[in-house]
Parts: sequence; structure tokens; C-alpha cells
Amino acid sequence: MAEWGKKRDVELIKEGERRIEWAWNRMPVLQSIAKEWENEQPLKGVRVGACLHVTTETANLMRTLQAGGAEVSLCASNPLSTQDDVVAALNEVYQIPTFARRGVSTKDYYGHIAAVLQRQPMVTMDDGADLISMLHTDRRDLLDDVIGGTEETTTGVIRLRAMEADGTLAVPVVAVNDAMTKHFFDNRYGTGQSTMDGILRATNVLLAGKTFVVIGYGWCGRGIARKAAGIGAHVVVVEVDPLKALEAVMDGYRVTDMAEAAAIGQMFVTATGNLHVINGSHFAAMPDGAIVANAGHFNVEIDIKALQAMAESVALVRAGVEEYKLPNGRRIYLLAQGRLVNLACAEGHPAEVMDMSFANQALSIKWLVAGAGENRPAKVYAVPEEIDKQVAELKLKAMGVKLQELSEEQRKYLASWALGTTD
Ligand code: ADE
Repeated sequence: MAEWGKKRDVELIKEGERRIEWAWNRMPVLQSIAKEWENEQPLKGVRVGACLHVTTETANLMRTLQAGGAEVSLCASNPLSTQDDVVAALNEVYQIPTFARRGVSTKDYYGHIAAVLQRQPMVTMDDGADLISMLHTDRRDLLDDVIGGTEETTTGVIRLRAMEADGTLAVPVVAVNDAMTKHFFDNRYGTGQSTMDGILRATNVLLAGKTFVVIGYGWCGRGIARKAAGIGAHVVVVEVDPLKALEAVMDGYRVTDMAEAAAIGQMFVTATGNLHVINGSHFAAMPDGAIVANAGHFNVEIDIKALQAMAESVALVRAGVEEYKLPNGRRIYLLAQGRLVNLACAEGHPAEVMDMSFANQALSIKWLVAGAGENRPAKVYAVPEEIDKQVAELKLKAMGVKLQELSEEQRKYLASWALGTTD
């Protein structure tokens, strides 16, 4: 069983259970799916292998799949995001084999993915595509029995499209990230809030009045910029795409390149999905006391090796905060070793938003399993539109929000081309 078992702790199990229940009470869409599935059993006998951040919200997705009849196993999708109490409760209370421990080595991280693959999943779930990558490299022997997979995040979808483009992808995969009820809300409001949460828990600095540089103005960057502005920071956006840069300008932010932003920023957050967007020359230009964090999936956005090479000394000054002293006398503070700050320094997105993301995951898996006999071509699939709509409707219902209905006259008007300008 998972490695946490070596330091078995009844309190840890109880704490995990309590926190999982707390999140469950904020996930009404997932609850309604689980309730329906208890009778329907759409995943009966299906082995699901998941590689996701091991959080209270993920635990509730696992419980939902289990309620639908699936045999689930789970490992972490990042070495620093695991919540050990959740691992303990999943293994002991919910009987879901979970292979994860916070702060594991890279070797153990991949060992845990291998342990999930050892259970011969018929459906894979990823957040960053590490599980499906290993399936397509080290464990190709398992491919024949795989119905398909799902992917939670932008970075993973980019990797899967690359696999599809070079002909490597051997199974159908649903890009859950691209559902509107996922990225409009999870990437924007979830990342926005949880990134602030991570920065504040790690540093407890005042953000009002600070120059806050957001690198990347995708859905996550937009969310982070909005929350930073809301708390009183002066937001500067760095972006490579002209349309997104224009949007950032009209959203009211100063937009410039990294060379200029590096010299004026006091807080830097990366959300690009790209390599070394903060590099050595940027560190050299930063003011004393600059705080640097990453909100993207992988720890590649900040060139940490360059920072290490430049530094005269490195010290841990608070949990999750390393101080790098540079030869120019300035100090740079790196959060969470450049791993995603919202999950490493806080708890990730709140349950209310993961409710929608994970409802898309659950319903996409049902869609994959229901179509198993159709021999779907191996490519990246969009979440079916009806699933997106169903998730939005269920969420609105749970929130007690009323939707306006079209009248018959309005429905006809929208379906006809005959009526143009009128008196
Ligand atoms: N990704 C971001 N926040 C998350 C959370 N709370 N649980 C699982 N995956 C996440």
C-alpha cells in the first residue's frame, strides 16, 4: 500500500476524513452525479487509474467514480501538492488505493505512477499527462485494454496534442480542460483565488500597493491579475500573444516585456506553460526583496538553475520560502521551489469550483466507457457539448439561480431569417 502507511496515524486519517467531508458539502454537482450513479452503476467493473493532485476535492471525485462502480486507484500529479491526511483517509476510510506522499523524490513520484499502472487501468485520468506518457513509453503492453483517458489541465492537453500530431497517441483522450464549465471557472476563478491564497499563506506580505507582475494572460493569468488588482496591487502583464496583450491593456493593466517588468516588479507570478519565462538576466534586474512564484503546472517556468548558479547563498526563511542572495546584494524570494504555488503553499482551488471541473471529469469518463464498443479513433476529443451544458445547469440549480426561459415567439424569431429592420 502507499508509503504513508509507514507512519500510520489515526489522527491523520480522521483529519483527512473530516476535510474530505467539508469539501463534499461544497460539491453539489458531484453529489448529484454520485447519487444517480449508485443505482445506475455506469462504471461497473471499470478499472480507473488517476494521476491528479491528491486533495480533498480529488478524493470526492474518486468517491464518485467508486459510487458508479469503478475500481479506482490514485497517485499524485505533482510531488509537492499531496495532502497526506487525504492519502491516509483514502486508503483507510474509503478503500481507494492511493500512492502519494508530500515532498517525494522524483524517483518515488514516478514509482507511484508505475504503481497505478500496475493495476492495469482501463481508463486513465491525468493532470499534466504524466500517467498517459508512462503508459505510452514504459507500459505499452497495457495499451490494448485501455478504453481511453481524460486530461485536466492546459499543459497536459498541449502534451496530448503533440502526441496526437506525431502519431504517438494510441487511445482516445478527452480534453476536460477545454470544457467551458472547466477553464472559464477553474482556470480563472480557481487559479486566481488559490494563487493569492498560496502567496499569502507563504509570505503574509501586504499586496496592496505592490507592483505585481503576471506573466501569461491566458485564463489563469487573467484570474490572477484580477484578484491581484482587487486586493490593491499595481498589475503589470507580460504576454507574447498580441490579442491577449491587447485584452490585458483594455482590462486596465500595464503591459510590457519581461526586461522592463523585471526591473519594476516586487511580486512575480508565472502562468504561461512555457520554459524559463523568468531567466538569469531577469533575476539580475529585479529589485531587492522581489518575490517569485509559479502558478503553471510544471516547475519549468522559472529558471531555478540559473538562480542557483548566480546566488551566493540560499536559505529557507519561512515554510516554502527560499531566500537567494545575489552578488549585487539583492535578495530574491522563491516560493515552493518554483512548483505550483496554489497547491504547494495552499490547498489548490476551492471545492466549489472543482465541483464543476470534476463533474466534467466524471461525465467524460462515463461517455468514454459508454462508447467503448465504437472503436473511437485515437485522438484528443472535446468534452461533448451536452455535458458542458448539463454541468452548467446543475451548478446553477445547486446555487439556486433562476434561468430566464425563451418565449415561443422568441424561439421562432431566433429560428427565422425573414424579419429584419421593422418600423
Ligand atoms: N487543481 C487545482 N486545484 C485543485 C484541487 N483543489 N484539487 C485537485 N486538483 C486541483
